[in-house]
Amino acid sequence: MLERLWQLTELQFRPDEQHHHETLFTIGNGYLGTRGAFEEGYPGETPATLVHGIYNHAPDTLVPELVNAPNWLVLKIWVDGTPFGIVQSTENHMRPPQGVIFGYERTLDMRRALLRREALFRAQSGAIVRVQFERFASLADVHVMAQRVRVTAVEGNPTIEVESVIDADVSNQGVRHWRSDATTIADGDTTGVEVTTAQSNYVLGMASRLLCDGAVESIDDERRPASRTRFSLSREQTATLTKLTTVYTSRDVPNSPLEAARAKLDEATELGWDLLFSAHEAEWAEYWDTADIQISGDDEVQRALRFTTYHYLIAAPRFDERVSIGAKTLSGLGYKGHVFWDTELFIVPPLVLSQPQLARNLLMYRYHNLPGARNKARANGYEGAMYPWESTDTGEETTPQWSDPGADGTRIRIWTGDNEQHISTDIAYAVWLYWRWTGDDEFLRRYGAEIILDTAVFWGSRVEKAGDRYEISQQIGPDEYHENVDNSVFVNRMVVWHLETALWLVDYLHQHAPDDARRLVDTLDLTPDRLTHWRDVADKMYIPFDEERQIHVQFPGFFDLEYVPVPDYTPRTTSLHAILGHHRIAQTQVIKQADVVMLMALLGDELGPREVLLNNWHTYYPRTDHGSSLSPAVHAWVAAWLGLTDVAYEMLYHAVHIDLHDNKGNVGQGIHAAACGCVWQAVVFGFCGLQIENGELKTQPNLPKHWTEVSFRVYYQGQLREFTVRNPEAVPLSQ
Ligand code: BGC
Repeated sequence: MLERLWQLTELQFRPDEQHHHETLFTIGNGYLGTRGAFEEGYPGETPATLVHGIYNHAPDTLVPELVNAPNWLVLKIWVDGTPFGIVQSTENHMRPPQGVIFGYERTLDMRRALLRREALFRAQSGAIVRVQFERFASLADVHVMAQRVRVTAVEGNPTIEVESVIDADVSNQGVRHWRSDATTIADGDTTGVEVTTAQSNYVLGMASRLLCDGAVESIDDERRPASRTRFSLSREQTATLTKLTTVYTSRDVPNSPLEAARAKLDEATELGWDLLFSAHEAEWAEYWDTADIQISGDDEVQRALRFTTYHYLIAAPRFDERVSIGAKTLSGLGYKGHVFWDTELFIVPPLVLSQPQLARNLLMYRYHNLPGARNKARANGYEGAMYPWESTDTGEETTPQWSDPGADGTRIRIWTGDNEQHISTDIAYAVWLYWRWTGDDEFLRRYGAEIILDTAVFWGSRVEKAGDRYEISQQIGPDEYHENVDNSVFVNRMVVWHLETALWLVDYLHQHAPDDARRLVDTLDLTPDRLTHWRDVADKMYIPFDEERQIHVQFPGFFDLEYVPVPDYTPRTTSLHAILGHHRIAQTQVIKQADVVMLMALLGDELGPREVLLNNWHTYYPRTDHGSSLSPAVHAWVAAWLGLTDVAYEMLYHAVHIDLHDNKGNVGQGIHAAACGCVWQAVVFGFCGLQIENGELKTQPNLPKHWTEVSFRVYYQGQLREFTVRNPEAVPLSQ
């Protein structure tokens, strides 16, 4: 196994890429995520540790957000009194004494989820040291994080000072979520803090210990307790220090999270770095055993695909079914940690096939949040369950109604919370997909069925009768450039799928789980009239279709809008939304992301004959500007499945590098989680053509010309199955 294809390496620190790289080098374990900020800090940095489920609604902000937890990374080092760190500029003579960094290397070992950094540093005294940092967030015990620092004297006999801090003086870009009264501990090598969110009252306890050979003294500080040690090194001597940190919140333990963190810290100290790390590594080996796809013939995409897989794995809750993955994972503050359809349609599917238990946890989050969905339906005058477009810990709608002010101070009304209603069907689709692949009847009977059926109840009350057909007005489909449209083909057709699936499910339950069928019929009021209504809606729903052109019409009137040749707008690193403006784009045929193409991804051949699907592709692909990161991977998937391999590869290459190349310019705010999940689908469902046919798995590959082979493993009905798809005529890429 080539290690370099498991590693992401940075050889030069560039301040203008600092935030981008903090996101890329995030570590996590499904309980928390910590951005790749430096131990010693750097001006303008945006360190953040985000713990699943810890949201707070601060005064003067529109909606709740995931809260930035105390920073556990801080380890400051002085070499003969010179602070270790990257020198910012030599022009300002007022700066404190500065050293010189001769070389720097930072590597994320994705196989072991370990972040390493080393630098060669000269202090003002002339002493030269090599400093090596390592850190990981344990997958074996999600409450434990470990850091190790090794300082080697390369020249001179320097005196080294190391200070380990928990910094609880943190905010979300200036928004304060923690109350000002923190409890702190500073007791020799042990420090700790306990903080409480101001509105939601979550308590978080964090404890740290600095382990080293010499004496350690503590420095008490109201919000930044520290431990400090000092020692001398002779030439070629290495000192190794370990910092262990543990975290609990009131979501995990009923009483004092700080006490729980301290107890865990003692346990972790007993084990020490080596045992903690080997347990962590073993868990990761198990993750990768099923999550990894091996591609021969394309090292670049291979490594990038491991990167995208790594990022959704570190965000997936392992043991907690009341939290879910936000659009930016736990790697940044973008979208405030809110959960969208991104999770169910983009991230859940690869987990269903590779880590079904993680997929189940995510679906259970939606089950537990049915009350919030019912509240939303009721508040809008509908029946059943209508899921929020953006969701947090409460399951209530948390989409802001207004955008932040733009450069000219104006704000835009955000309609998605009102009208992007397809999310209820997306969630139902994910439940159904989970059940089809896993055969987990117990989940379907006890939890999943209620999701599919009560959201069907919602649609039954939402559709509008118009003459002899049904319509749905005022919708936002995946293409958010066109808001509040009537009869989005994506929405209408998916509602047909939803109601048909619900009808099938009622029959299935009556046959296979009569008690559950009776329970659900009673509690959800699934009267014969209601089921007849669903049948009628499914049969008579208006599906916009152009008979002459043999295409699905995104929504009636779409082709009357101004045609803008999207391919002419190159080169660009921004969306056409930014170029043309919010109001103009709505008057054009520019599409933000896969919409009809998304429908093709979800329904495949059920949507229509191949000829129609190809017509759809040739119509909508050139009109799409991929203003959303969700778009390219869906296009790659559908194009590969349709046999349009060249364009499919182009889209895949783009999608798999969205974060690595920062081609959306906003990776500093967090990883694009949906894109990460969807590239897996593009490779497995698209290029390899994996599908269930008559209860059996089969592949129908359309590999890119230069890929010689793709191997992957998936669970189907509880069995692990292995596939290798070959391309005997592969033409290697010229180097
Ligand atoms: C996309 C949505 C997506 C959201 C969060 C928006 O830009 O259009 O489809 O759910 O971002 O990722």
